[in-house]
Amino acid sequence: MTSVLVLNGPNLGRLGTREPDVYGAGTLDDLRAQLAADAPEFEIDLRQTDVEGELLGWLHEAADSGAPVILNAGAWTHYSYALRDAVSLVTKAGGTVIEVHLSNPHAREEFRHTSVITAVSTGVIAGLGFDSYRLALAFIRRNAR
Ligand code: DQA
Repeated sequence: MTSVLVLNGPNLGRLGTREPDVYGAGTLDDLRAQLAADAPEFEIDLRQTDVEGELLGWLHEAADSGAPVILNAGAWTHYSYALRDAVSLVTKAGGTVIEVHLSNPHAREEFRHTSVITAVSTGVIAGLGFDSYRLALAFIRRNAR
């Protein structure tokens, strides 16, 4: 079964209780179940970390395996050049990385308006809650070989 990596960065393990007015009331377990129901032909390999190096390692893994990635890098999105380089090495190797955000960063504080990963990502979907991930998965399904 083909795996889809659904990678989540810092503080996203707190979904459900973290600012539900911004991020919604659903948890990562709810998200995993929703994605699995949407795409039963894929293994949904959903992970979360608060350690940047761990996320970099997962992206290196994707570069080697070719598994498509849905990436919510949380606040690292806005300033981590190491993350940008890791995303770039996946997409330059022909892999897919779709940047997603639950909220719309452009409607929020100024520092969230910058993403250092958009330019090296396959695409970006933001502001649609869990639907940001679901639409990314729909794209992956449509383009899967
Ligand atoms: C986020 C937006 C980021 O600005 C923030 O730091 C997050 C979550 C989102 O999904 O809306 O942690 O990536």
